[in-house]
Amino acid sequence: MNTQHVLLDVHLTDRDAEAALRADALAGLTATPKHLPPKWFYDARGSELFEQITALPEYYPTRTEAALLARSVDEIAAASGADTLVELGSGSSAKTRLLLDAFARAGTLRRYVPQDVSEAALRGALDVLAAEYPGLLLHGVVGDFTTDLDKLPRGERRMVAFLGGTIGNLLPTERHAFLTQLRSVLSPGEQLLLGTGLVVDESVVVPAYDDAAGVTAEFNRNVLHVLNRELDADFDVDAFAHRALWDADNEWIEMRLVAQRAMDVRVGELDLDVPFAVGEELRTEVSAKFRPLGVRSMLDAAGFDPVQMWTDPDERFALTLAAAR
Ligand code: AVJ
Repeated sequence: MNTQHVLLDVHLTDRDAEAALRADALAGLTATPKHLPPKWFYDARGSELFEQITALPEYYPTRTEAALLARSVDEIAAASGADTLVELGSGSSAKTRLLLDAFARAGTLRRYVPQDVSEAALRGALDVLAAEYPGLLLHGVVGDFTTDLDKLPRGERRMVAFLGGTIGNLLPTERHAFLTQLRSVLSPGEQLLLGTGLVVDESVVVPAYDDAAGVTAEFNRNVLHVLNRELDADFDVDAFAHRALWDADNEWIEMRLVAQRAMDVRVGELDLDVPFAVGEELRTEVSAKFRPLGVRSMLDAAGFDPVQMWTDPDERFALTLAAAR
């Protein structure tokens, strides 16, 4: 393989991730009510379970966004004109190729900068892309999009894609902090392409996060396997039930794990005992859904001017192109 045009920056090591997990587990398991950030779902098994979720009949977001992107991507590339495509949380996504091909057709693209927390996933993706796009500069960044935005390679006409509705996994203050930080590392005119789930009927959104086959339940419980392995905890994983509920005031879905009996969980690495009462809930994810006006005001508040918005025919998902002011 010719790797002349491939760079990889590593800003996040296994030790950094371990320290972050310890801090999050200590804060979240000693809080009332208990909570954990959703980013800890995604070890190898969690990432595999998420891939399975995206193929479930009930889980509409991924296929809706993919279809929307497929039909809008040439308009997006034309409206953008970027020479560098940055993709936050790129994983090993099929959406990447849609974007790369459209920007290549538009004739402006020089460089692709995928960012991901997983060095292994990024190396795998870069190997494949280097072979498929021989003329493209590839510059991977291993890092956490909530803390390492200042380490993205510089450019003049970058478009940062943040797809999948992942911004909805941040709480409102975290969301604002993330967008403000992203804005601060961009020059005026540089762009953000943001994917957001839209508010849909409760009868549609709840099954998407509580599927009949129980894959989302396994995905949710997987965070306990992660804590058992990484922090020497002794969660009885089967003693926790999956729960998904729609919070109509906040317009977000919450996933929780419900203790089926009273228990004391030992977290060895933290020298911590965590008591659970029967029925006690641990919040593991919020997935906020947005209204088009809410997307615009969220972007505006962080210093972005919305340029154009694309939605699918059922109005379940939106892609918004915005420019840094
Ligand atoms: C695609 C990562 C944003 O919130 O829908 C899927 C992950 N959680 N099922 C989402 C997820 C439960 C997810 N993201």
